[in-house]
This record gives sequence, C-alpha cells and structure tokens, in this order.
Amino acid sequence: MDIHNPTYVGGHGLLKDRSVLITAAAGAGIGFSAATRAVEEGCRGIVISDIHEGRLDASVAKLKEETGLENVFGKICNVAVEEDVRALVDFAEDKLGGVDVLINNAGLGTSKHLIDMEDDEWMKVIDVTLNGTMRMTRYMMRVMKARGNGGVIVNNASVLGWRAQKEQSHYAAAKAGVMALTRCAALEAAEFGVRINAVSPSLAVHPMLKKSCPAELLAELEGKEAYGRGAEVWEVANIMVFLASDYSSYLTGETISCSSQRG
Ligand SMILES: NC(=O)c1ccc[n+]([C@@H]2O[C@H](COP(=O)([O-])OP(=O)(O)OC[C@H]3O[C@@H](n4cnc5c(N)ncnc54)[C@H](O)[C@@H]3O)[C@@H](O)[C@H]2O)c1
Repeated sequence: MDIHNPTYVGGHGLLKDRSVLITAAAGAGIGFSAATRAVEEGCRGIVISDIHEGRLDASVAKLKEETGLENVFGKICNVAVEEDVRALVDFAEDKLGGVDVLINNAGLGTSKHLIDMEDDEWMKVIDVTLNGTMRMTRYMMRVMKARGNGGVIVNNASVLGWRAQKEQSHYAAAKAGVMALTRCAALEAAEFGVRINAVSPSLAVHPMLKKSCPAELLAELEGKEAYGRGAEVWEVANIMVFLASDYSSYLTGETISCSSQRG
C-alpha cells in the first residue's frame, strides 16, 4: 500500500451476517462510506439515517445499486430530537430484526472565535455533536440490554477532542465529551455485553468538506499531516468497521485516532 496514494481495500467479511445502523450517512462523507464498507464486509442489512431527506433517499438508492444488497433502508432522524432518535432505533430494530452495530456518525461544526460566539451557536454544536451521540447511545444501550445478546456501538469523535485549533472551542469541547461518554458508557455497557469505542479522525476530505472549508485552511490542515494529505473517507470507515467487528473484541471505552498528524 502506497500511503501517499492509497488504493481501496476490499471486504474481508468482518461484519458477516451483522445488522448495522448509521446516523448522518447521506452524501459523500464518512457516514456513507461506513455504510458501503459495512455492506462490503458482509452485513446482512443496514439502516442509514440523516436529517436531509433528499440526500438520504438518493443515498439509499445508491447504496443498493452499488452493493446489490436489497436489505437497505433509510429513515430521517435529527439526533438533536429525542423522539426522532427513539423512532430511528425502533425502526431499525424492526426492519433488521435487531441492531448488532450502531455507528454514531452525526456531528456538526462551525468556525468562530470564542469571544464572538453567542450561546445559541455553542448550544447547537454541543446538542447535535455531544448530546445527539448521548441520546443515540443511551437508547441503543437500553434496547441492547433488554435484548440480551450484546452489540457494538462506534462513535465518531475528532482529534480536536485532544488537540487545539482556533475557532473550534465548541466543537472540540463536544468531541472531548464524546470521548468521555465513550469511556464511561463502555464501563456500564460491559455489564450486559455491549462494547463502545470511538474513532477520532484528524482530517477526512470529501466534496462537502471541500465546499465548506476555505481552501487555505484545508491546505494548512493537510500540511500538518505527516502524509501531507487528509484521509480518504474510507480510511476512517475501515477503522469504524474494525471497531464494530470481532477483531476488536478486547477493546472497549477506547478512542482510536485516524490520523497521520505529527503533534
Ligand atoms: N471530515 C473530517 O475531516 C472530520 C474530522 C473529524 C471528525 N469528523 C466527524 O465525522 C462525522 C462526519 O463528518 P463528515 O465530514 O463525513 O460529514 P459532514 O459533517 O459533511 O456531514 C455529515 C452529515 O450529517 C448530517 N447531519 C447534520 N446535522 C444532523 C443532525 N442533527 N442529525 C442527523 N444528521 C445530521 C448532514 O445532513 C450530513 O449529511 C462528524 O461527526 C464529524 O464531526 C469529520
């Protein structure tokens, strides 16, 4: 594998016969890539979710067409709304005959110096990114505990949960919270056979990010990477799938970076 020009890695049956639920999976970002990867790794059925209806419908159709799997379902969910979260998990439980793997991918960011930030901007980022992950994790844990045959939850954090970047205090605080939530919830979930881990990407480049991130900042962030590039979204998805699979059976409460950053 050439690390500067990586080639796509094919499936190895890591999620054979598992069922998977992924939030914020419409479009061309990490969530959709994780969905594709899960199917390639042999999952028997998948529910993808997002807040954006048009993109979600298109993504369900695309996933079916590209992978040939029929058992693909879409459901709108705003992770900031508790009723949406419950409806999503209940829908997935019903369609898939139980959810084996939940990937909490939803997260939201803006860029603002703290001294210029109003409460509502801070609250919105925290509510989607941290509280949304909490809501999904909490309800999924209740359902998995009641079902009694284990399960796996994978959260999407960010290296900003550990590192500093200007204009990112709200997002970084939320992602540090996701890491802490992962550690503490995993301790409780181990009692009923559920593992919870997180991946923390540094930079994963996709078309929507290129649109929203100023080219100068993107170049600066890429320049901080030892590889001189951001990750492909599928390189993040590969770590999610590893965390969701039995290959990580003796791993819970951990956060694994997907990064080539130097410091
Ligand atoms: N791309 C990166 O460089 C990077 C780095 C570190 C962490 N992350 C994290 O990875 C995750 C995915 O990011 P991305 O860059 O691949 O995609 P993205 O942030 O561009 O978009 C993800 C999707 O989230 C959906 N969404 C927004 N608000 C939502 C809500 N309230 N409920 C449900 N869905 C909602 C959007 O409609 C969109 O389809 C996020 O948690 C992000 O914080 C990304």
